[in-house]
Amino acid sequence: MANPELAIIPQHVAIIMDGNGRWANKRGLPRTVGHSKGVEAVRETVRAAGAVGVKYLTLFAFSSENWGRPEAEVNDLLGLLRRFIRRDLAELHRENIRIRVIGERENLRGDILPLLVEAEETTRFNTALTLVIAFNYGARDEIARAVAKLARDVEAGRLKASDIDADRISQSLDTAGIPDPDLIIRTSGEERLSNFLLWQAAYSELVFLPDYWPDFDRNLFYDALRVFASRDRRFGGLSNKAAAAVVG
Ligand code: FPP
Repeated sequence: MANPELAIIPQHVAIIMDGNGRWANKRGLPRTVGHSKGVEAVRETVRAAGAVGVKYLTLFAFSSENWGRPEAEVNDLLGLLRRFIRRDLAELHRENIRIRVIGERENLRGDILPLLVEAEETTRFNTALTLVIAFNYGARDEIARAVAKLARDVEAGRLKASDIDADRISQSLDTAGIPDPDLIIRTSGEERLSNFLLWQAAYSELVFLPDYWPDFDRNLFYDALRVFASRDRRFGGLSNKAAAAVVG
């Protein structure tokens, strides 16, 4: 995109970073190299998002289903996330970037949760971009935990069942306080949401790119923003043009 600043900039972009393994396979390299290159793409994407005024960037870093991968690969992914927080936290903080983490926290062992919490705490008053890291995240699990919490509130008499509406459900999810994504990008040619932000994606624009995640860069990001800007978002209503015709 030559002039991203001229387009409509989405407030919240969420990304399913897919294709690290295939990127590596194509080059005869171990999958771990694909994941490492993927972290470089993460760095560039955070910078590119901040540069054009995106306010929220959510990255699907590790799904609740990813634990089913071979142990070595799980350890590799956890190691990369750990290193990313350790090495980049100071710089993210300097750049006024706030970190939020979504996903199930209860059963996490080891040092990863304390590190993620430290990143959230350190950056909690920052006001530029909010970088939302989806870790041990699955949308159905998130919704189930929210429903269970609301059921407990009803059981304890803190809430009436008739007070449960869409807003209250939104505020009970891990993403409470974060606007729904305007744009969801998935790389690698797969065209599905794979249990990512299912509730929040109700009106998101979806952009599927053929490129593998390690090849994702500023240019591809801005191309996706350009596609977003060309879409006619109606939220179940009429387009601006159709509405003008009705009014006459
Ligand atoms: C999908 O590629 C990618 C992942 C499962 C994880 C994404 C993680 C990173 C980019 C690194 C850590 C993240 C941060 C925020 C520092 P895949 O392995 O499923 O690729 P494939 O479908 O081609 O096998």
